Amino acid sequence: MDDNFDVIIIGSGPGGYVCAIKCAQLGLKTACVEASKTLGGTCLNIGCIPSKSLLNSSEKYHKVQKEFNNLGIEASNVKLNLSKMMNNKKKSVLTLTKGIEFLFKKNKVTHLQGEGSILEKNNVIVKDSSGKKTNYKAKNIVISTGSIPTSLPGIKIDEKIVVSSTGALSFDKVPKELIVIGGGYIGLELSSVWKRLGSKVTVVEFLDHILPGMDQDISNELLKILKKQGIDFRLGSKVTDVKIAKDKAIVDFINNKSQKRERIECSKVLIAVGRKPNIGEYITKLGIKLDKQKKINVNEKFETSIKNIYAVGDVINKGPMLAHKAEDEGIAVAEIIAGQVGHVNYNVIPAVIYTSPEVATVGKTEEQLKKENIKYKVGKFPFLANSRAKVNSETEGFVKIIADEKTDKVLGVSIISDLAGTMIAELALAMEFGASSEDIARTCHAHPTHSEAVKEAAMAVYKKPIHF
Ligand code: NAI
Repeated sequence: MDDNFDVIIIGSGPGGYVCAIKCAQLGLKTACVEASKTLGGTCLNIGCIPSKSLLNSSEKYHKVQKEFNNLGIEASNVKLNLSKMMNNKKKSVLTLTKGIEFLFKKNKVTHLQGEGSILEKNNVIVKDSSGKKTNYKAKNIVISTGSIPTSLPGIKIDEKIVVSSTGALSFDKVPKELIVIGGGYIGLELSSVWKRLGSKVTVVEFLDHILPGMDQDISNELLKILKKQGIDFRLGSKVTDVKIAKDKAIVDFINNKSQKRERIECSKVLIAVGRKPNIGEYITKLGIKLDKQKKINVNEKFETSIKNIYAVGDVINKGPMLAHKAEDEGIAVAEIIAGQVGHVNYNVIPAVIYTSPEVATVGKTEEQLKKENIKYKVGKFPFLANSRAKVNSETEGFVKIIADEKTDKVLGVSIISDLAGTMIAELALAMEFGASSEDIARTCHAHPTHSEAVKEAAMAVYKKPIHF
């Protein structure tokens, strides 16, 4: 095999594989190194995709039991076949990872199987599963090695009883009791899955609210909704110990304010307290500069401190750890390497939490704007007043648009709705084009759709909504 490339990308997650395809499309001779058997990284194999499969199946299971009857659809003897549900998840993952293999072939990206590391500038070593090492030369190298779950001091993840998201996506039985440590993205999505499938779920969160960094209105509303769904919360509580006793776990935690201690016994514990960048030994050995959080420092061109070594995705010190942010960075760095202009607008990166209803946000929150001393106006519209949401019995949630007090330019949007994840794209586009709330309000939105709530929230910013 030819061992001279224009670009070698280490890691085939959304940052890496998208970068590889774009590099090849731009005429660069490209290889992508992946240590796992399948392409796609955390997102496709043990993250976004399998979790969305379980979220979808578990929601259907829940609805057929609890909601269909109201629609005049009577289903009896509904049973859960967990292993079939897991197989369906595996099938989706396989189809999508195979899809990347196909795209690599189609675009003539060389797939190098094995663990990649950088020996020195322009020199990548790939160690395959038999331990054999091969050297490849590359004019440019892109590190896209993603992130790995963090744990708490002294608490070991065994992926059997104390699990990370990886273990919680593959339980072979519905846990009787599940304790989830951390009320962030992963904690809330997987709490939803297992609650719907029959677990008693308790979320222990250190802060006094869920979803840190999100608009407070949104995090309060989602908390109310999830409580109504039967998930228990212990907010403002710090986990002090997790012990395994036979086939059970014992979780100790303390309330930060009252100092009251509590102990809960459970069948499984999910640790979802964040992720950290996946920094291979070679990165520190080469002296690539990291920030305080041990993320790779990159400049606006995604260059690390060593020339011709670039980095994108969860491993860098820019933006949130989200697959679509990594994809955009992958495209931008490919364009930069090819001598074009590549750019990512970090002010307009949507974020979605796939609970039911979903939460989606883009831009700034009220709390951030207050801190930055920016004067703003707010328009809100509840789905209770949206006709389509009403006929679909999807009336929980609202659209909240924040616009600059003087210029009316949209600064941030949050949505709670069954369709929030899809709806947020309109708002991201509007913000990219510098739209005002009046621009959105004067854009014709089809009736009857959930999106009319966006138009109405925009009307509520500068004048009044019609239907509320
Ligand atoms: P996160 O940062 O979203 O949430 C972690 C939570 O754990 C925080 O609320 C934090 O206050 C809490 N916590 C920390 N220490 C604690 C302690 N000792 N006791 C109790 N609570 C404690 O992290 P998460 O959920 O693990 O997700 C990791 C990353 O993966 C995130 O950056 C997220 O962006 C990404 N992700 C994105 C998804 C999506 O786009 N839908 C889905 C899943 C993950």
